[in-house]
Amino acid sequence: FDPVKKLVNICKRYKMWLHLDGAFGGSVIFSKNLKHLLEGIENADSFCFNAHKTLGAPLSTSILLVKKKKYLYKSFDNDAQYLYQTHDKDYNLGSSSFECGRRNNALKLWSMWKAIGTEGMSNIIERQFKLADFARKYIKNNKNYRLFSFENSLSICFNYQDIDPKDLCSKLYKNNVLLVGYGQFKNQKFIRLVIVNIQNNEKEILNFFKNVEDFVKRNKNLKRIKSCKEIL
Ligand SMILES: Cc1ncc(COP(=O)(O)O)c(C=O)c1O
Repeated sequence: FDPVKKLVNICKRYKMWLHLDGAFGGSVIFSKNLKHLLEGIENADSFCFNAHKTLGAPLSTSILLVKKKKYLYKSFDNDAQYLYQTHDKDYNLGSSSFECGRRNNALKLWSMWKAIGTEGMSNIIERQFKLADFARKYIKNNKNYRLFSFENSLSICFNYQDIDPKDLCSKLYKNNVLLVGYGQFKNQKFIRLVIVNIQNNEKEILNFFKNVEDFVKRNKNLKRIKSCKEIL
């Protein structure tokens, strides 16, 4: 998670708009135990999160919140006479959003929230963080892995036996073993296991690692990369 408070100060000093892209992790706002990760969020100008990611809502349930409603009208309102002839602006969401004749996406979040409550949403997000901890622990306890991921992250970045992540991930996919992505930060490449499926459990995480390990055992000609320091 980015240090929101620091970003708030920088944006205030230089009079910049602060948008917090919480597409992936922003759902922590529903958890009492985790929302400190977004401390300072109330000072942002806008914030978004995708309930279709970590909360498991159907695609797509993307939420954009702005501090001042007028900015939505400034961005989306238009002068077409043939539109929005009934009701006032509060009911005509077309003048304050991308939507016009499209789906009522907000209904998905609303009905989910009604059905399981804030506690239910909190349980979902906290469960994902626990699974991420479980995966990180597995990596830390196994000397064949290198971890490049921070605590409190749902992206578990790692390498296995210094094998080139792109080569390994592509071959895992082509051989119908696993679909897992890879990433890069500066010169460091890594496999990127993203904890996002609310149906997963610890057994499946272990199974993921076992599949990687078994595949590497069976495939001796995978590319290698230079060994590098762990970032913990
Ligand atoms: C940080 C971040 N921003 C934006 C996106 C794009 O989200 P979407 O196109 O699903 O709204 C993603 C998707 O993973 C993301 O992780």
